[in-house]
Amino acid sequence: MEEFSWFEAGHVALITGASQGFGRAVARQLAARGLRLVITARDAAALEEAASELRERTQVEAIAGDVTELEHVHRLVSRASDAFGRLDLLVNNASTLGLVPLPPLEHLSPAVFQRLFETNAFAPLHLMQHALPLLLRSGGTIVNVSSDAAVNAYPGWGGYGASKAALEHFSRTLAAELDGFGVSILVVDPGSMDTKMHRDAEPDADFAAMPSPEEVAVALMRAIASDRDAYARIELPSLLAVTAPA
Ligand SMILES: NC(=O)c1ccc[n+]([C@@H]2O[C@H](COP(=O)([O-])OP(=O)(O)OC[C@H]3O[C@@H](n4cnc5c(N)ncnc54)[C@H](OP(=O)(O)O)[C@@H]3O)[C@@H](O)[C@H]2O)c1
Repeated sequence: MEEFSWFEAGHVALITGASQGFGRAVARQLAARGLRLVITARDAAALEEAASELRERTQVEAIAGDVTELEHVHRLVSRASDAFGRLDLLVNNASTLGLVPLPPLEHLSPAVFQRLFETNAFAPLHLMQHALPLLLRSGGTIVNVSSDAAVNAYPGWGGYGASKAALEHFSRTLAAELDGFGVSILVVDPGSMDTKMHRDAEPDADFAAMPSPEEVAVALMRAIASDRDAYARIELPSLLAVTAPA
């Protein structure tokens, strides 16, 4: 699958959780394609470190904060509009495991359950809602990063998986409501990656056997650029092995 002209230099992407892991790798890929970026994460020093690397390739607005706070969501979208005048791509990537070691549902506290839903489902929904006017104007794309835990039952992953399932259902429903308006929604399951989140969740996993977030970010670029319907759910591991035709 070859990339076509979806990526245009000067387009603008907003990426949550871009200070490390998959979000940072996605930001690198988009910067390399000439997109201007608005990035966020809570740890201001880590975010600034990522931003200064990305600024070697493109213009970057880095705003530290928590995506579960509505004011922060508004600030992020306003910055895309004020600094760049447009928004073409929203990547809802920031996420939490809630609590590690992952507790069985029987012991998942209401406070942790609430934090899981606030971060993994409500924050992306608020970002989609608030960014929609800009995305409608640009005919933009929303990428919501989910997980196979949204569809499979893994002991310990019930709270996290339920929050990702909610995110997927918000995505499907919004896509149905936006049918014909030119905005596309892509839900992606990145598969297992060697990141801090995965090491926190499963310290004994075989990380050497997992793709890096950088490899999976390249697969996401293929997914975004692919010829697809206005709503799609793509398992990114299926795009990892794609090679250009000879
Ligand atoms: N790694 C895997 O194997 C795997 C598998 C399936 C799905 N996923 C999904 O892939 C995505 C990326 O995961 P990852 O492994 O790269 O995670 P990660 O290494 O833990 O990075 C998460 C990023 O999100 C930020 N973040 C977390 N909570 C936030 C909040 N409330 N507000 C703003 N930023 C916040 C973190 O920075 P701060 O902590 O500084 O805020 C960090 O930049 C997530 O949606 C995850 O669910 C990962």
